[in-house]
Amino acid sequence: MTKKRIGIFCSGGDAPGMNACVRGAVRTATSLGHEVVGIMRGYEGMINRSFWRDSSGEEILTAFRVASWAGHGSAHLRSSRSEEFRTPAGRQRAVQVLKENQIDALIPIGGNGTIAGAIALSEVWDGQIVACPGTIDNDLYGTDYTIGFSTAVQTAVEAVDRIRDTASSHDRMFLVEVMGRHSGYIALYTALASGADVVAIPETDTNFPEIISHLKRLKANGRMMAIMIVAEGDEKGGAVSINQQLQEYECPFKTRTVVLGHLQRGGVPTPEDRRRATHLGAGAVNAIAAGKTGVMVGTADDDTILTPLTETIKSHRHVPDSLLELLGQVQL
Ligand code: F6P
Repeated sequence: MTKKRIGIFCSGGDAPGMNACVRGAVRTATSLGHEVVGIMRGYEGMINRSFWRDSSGEEILTAFRVASWAGHGSAHLRSSRSEEFRTPAGRQRAVQVLKENQIDALIPIGGNGTIAGAIALSEVWDGQIVACPGTIDNDLYGTDYTIGFSTAVQTAVEAVDRIRDTASSHDRMFLVEVMGRHSGYIALYTALASGADVVAIPETDTNFPEIISHLKRLKANGRMMAIMIVAEGDEKGGAVSINQQLQEYECPFKTRTVVLGHLQRGGVPTPEDRRRATHLGAGAVNAIAAGKTGVMVGTADDDTILTPLTETIKSHRHVPDSLLELLGQVQL
């Protein structure tokens, strides 16, 4: 077996569990006799020759150096969205750095933009690339789960539980905006888990007359408060805009809006995010060791699957119809 030098990095929106993914990759690589170096701030760090180093200047990510990373929020390798990497000159500079540093293979951890970057890089660099899905949005094809989704939903549900308390005290309706630029996954899971009354997601038509008659029915049945979850990417706008539009249709409740925003990207990763991110990091290294390239490692239930990078971002993964039906059945 030839020993490989693998570069790993986080890119795009950070996601709780990215550190667990790095740890899983490092420990698997070490056990197989390969070595891993961390590239700081994604493609930006690749262009700027910015490699992870410990306090004594050592750059190899050993099993010991990542020992406690599984439970840590934030991205220890940092993250960014690199404008320079979008240019051919930026990518050429990145290739030069990869060659100078004898990198044989890369593990990018990120979402749509990160994978698009990996595809562009593969056109000018002949090393192996095996990506890991890292985005709270859960919107990639080729996997039933993306790193950070579990924690983001947990955070949103906890927030809605708290908002429900104050909504009850004041007889109000709250519109709670969650992340998901192109996807309703976080909104739908949050709505189901928190027992929300209405949800607005980009995958379905947000129909104001229908929402208003649903709210009026609730009120007529004695409900004094209501919760609506809004995905930031809903086609009718975010929570603030949807609230304004609801008023034009004479909303029967007094309303307030809350935008959860980046709160959902922070915090200690849930056990599910830690376990599944570890699985994906290990899966990426196993795929590299098996000679694979141009693929993303994903999970289907608990099996590891590999999907060509181009397939994973051909569009944004649609929320399952079965969950939409379930939501319809429990919103009386
Ligand atoms: O892609 C993940 C995500 O968290 C989206 O849900 C959100 O729209 C976006 O990133 C926010 O990005 P930024 O951190 O650049 O504001």
